[in-house]
Amino acid sequence: MSKIPLIGQPVSRLEGQMKVTGSAKYSGEYNMPGLLYGYVVNSTIVRGEIISINTADVKKISGVVEIFTHENRPSLAWFNMQYADMDAPAGSPFRPLHDNEIKYYGQPIVLVVAETFELARYAASLIEVRYKEEKFSTDIQASLAKARAPKVGMAAALKPLPPKPKGDFEKAYASSAAQASGEFFHGTEHHNPLELFTTTTIYEGEGKLTIYDKTQGTVNCQLYVGNVFGLHFKDIRVISPYVGGAFGAGLRPQYQLFMSVMASLELKKNVRVTLDRDQMFTFGYRPPTIQTTRFGANADGTVTALNHEAIGQTSQFEDYTEVVVNWANMLYPAQNTLFKYKMVPLDVFSPLDMRAPGGSTGIHAIESTMDELAYKLNIDPLELRLINYTLHDESTDRPFSSKELRECYLQGAEKFGWKNRNPEPRSMRHGNKLVGYGMATGIWEAMTVPARAEAIITEDGKLLVNSAVTDIGTGTLTVMTQIAADELGLPMEDVTFSYGDSKMPFAPIQGGSFTVSTVGSAIKAAGKALKKKLLKKAAGIDKSPFKNVPIEEVIFENGKIVLTENPTLFMSFQDIITANKGKEIRTINFSVPNVLKLKKYSRAAHSAAFVEVEVDEELGIINVTRAITAVAAGNIINPKTARSQILGGMVWGISKALREETISDHHLGKYMNTNLGEYHIPVHADIHELDVIFVAEKDEIVNELGSKGIGEIGLAAMPPAIANAVFHATGKRINRFPIHFDSLL
Ligand code: MOS
Repeated sequence: MSKIPLIGQPVSRLEGQMKVTGSAKYSGEYNMPGLLYGYVVNSTIVRGEIISINTADVKKISGVVEIFTHENRPSLAWFNMQYADMDAPAGSPFRPLHDNEIKYYGQPIVLVVAETFELARYAASLIEVRYKEEKFSTDIQASLAKARAPKVGMAAALKPLPPKPKGDFEKAYASSAAQASGEFFHGTEHHNPLELFTTTTIYEGEGKLTIYDKTQGTVNCQLYVGNVFGLHFKDIRVISPYVGGAFGAGLRPQYQLFMSVMASLELKKNVRVTLDRDQMFTFGYRPPTIQTTRFGANADGTVTALNHEAIGQTSQFEDYTEVVVNWANMLYPAQNTLFKYKMVPLDVFSPLDMRAPGGSTGIHAIESTMDELAYKLNIDPLELRLINYTLHDESTDRPFSSKELRECYLQGAEKFGWKNRNPEPRSMRHGNKLVGYGMATGIWEAMTVPARAEAIITEDGKLLVNSAVTDIGTGTLTVMTQIAADELGLPMEDVTFSYGDSKMPFAPIQGGSFTVSTVGSAIKAAGKALKKKLLKKAAGIDKSPFKNVPIEEVIFENGKIVLTENPTLFMSFQDIITANKGKEIRTINFSVPNVLKLKKYSRAAHSAAFVEVEVDEELGIINVTRAITAVAAGNIINPKTARSQILGGMVWGISKALREETISDHHLGKYMNTNLGEYHIPVHADIHELDVIFVAEKDEIVNELGSKGIGEIGLAAMPPAIANAVFHATGKRINRFPIHFDSLL
């Protein structure tokens, strides 16, 4: 009897116990004698020049080792290269301590290195900087006249430009039976993972470094350090197995990495640099965005005209782009479309991808406009989606590789009790609370990118799989172990997945919901190659039952190769290793997606969210009392960790719609709530019944695993579903996020 596949089983996290007991070490927890500590001083002006820094006095303090500024930093060979890291947008990346120019509030300008963290921080507080200030602008709403098209960077393949206009939007919209439109504003958000950004650099001698970094890409940081400091890649090892959340903040190397490595190389010492919570607001973020929509439909509900325009924010030095306006025509097959995306460069740091970047912004506008359109048409919002349902992506004129969104709608609606909804706004109540039901669609691209993996049958006959990939808390370790175990027919306990280390085979940055598809595919490829190699070795052994037996006629099961038609004939991995003179057997494989096949299809995960809110009629306080998200994301490798991903996305949806915003004072050009006390995120009291449905979806196109990724789709549909529920409860359509109680009074 062949063993039950591990893929599809709700396996608990393998590292869970280590994490909750504190034995899993994070990048700031690798201690060694003589470790030095760096603390960064940040600019207190927005734009201008540094005139002087009083380093001499502060350096006299006992225990202060060195103070680095733009004046004494080492010269760096490759400091001016354009693409220092894999996630760099078009432009010129920010270079810490490059010169005396200040480009944004909070720019890192000094690194104080001392014998303890507390001393470094204290000494940093004594640093006085004199500036020459210049006029600045940080306000997107006040600078819309400067909006322009983005320059297209290297990341354009993963971030397509808006689809070209089709038909005649203006004419179709003007003559449509029903019209809905909206203006939407999204505030700035900062990722704020619980773990602070820390780098511990171990100086191994002669330009050799071992770096413990908080990152979503060990190889990316290795490349960055090699490029910027002109070191050999092989001399740089970046290790990051445990990551306490990242959400996109770790997609690019952050400045604590630069500071730690620079100080370590200059001082030839081990150096740790930790950014504190306040400093988490001095680099990438989800940009504020302004959107407008105009949708037109026939009286029967068929959407005929779609216009969606967005303006985002970027820095003066890079064109950070998001995919905001590409989704409407992927969802609804209108023949007359007009999509525009622009950006306003301001005196701020470059934005950075944050969970469902662009999607969670654009889909809010799209799905709230669809809700509005449903009211104009007097059609149920769910029915309107079904009327416009399509298996063809009109935006690219390609079929979807698979799309079980209809099942998401139907199963979600059934479990939620959507049919109990009275369509009239302000018609449902619990006591003095207005009750609203809202729903929305979610979509996120299913990407697979190239990666390598190594698979080894070790001397003791067990399986070891290696990849440089990180696990940012999503369950990567567990899921990769499941995939590897199934490929070789082994139980979980006979498989070790070793990861989070740039010395291991190449993995891209962990993001875009593509890690399972990408690294999982590489592991499958390596596993397949290893099976062939094992069979070949087995066939070469004296009196082998496998001479000239093709791989199709054996099964790999429980550490053995077994002849399918006669299971009494087998050979264990251990036997093969013994015959191999006790030496391990290894394969390393590069897995590249089949682009020719893939480009014939649109590939996306879909979801439908159903939300119940209660709104206090006098106080305007909104409470999400129930929510269900039904997800079609192909093959779900681990329903337990996958459910957690969707729940996390749903909580973020509540946060995005109702809580989260970095507030700027544009007269000062700075953020005002740079701490977790005032940067509001949901607490336990905000989270009630959340439910997740995974609908069955088979996809033989996306990749060999049939998996589409679930890191981001859980967030996509929730914000508009909440906004639509608030409208249903109150009759007020609030398009400014987050929705505060005062907008309902
Ligand atoms: Mo995600 S925003 O690609 O880490």
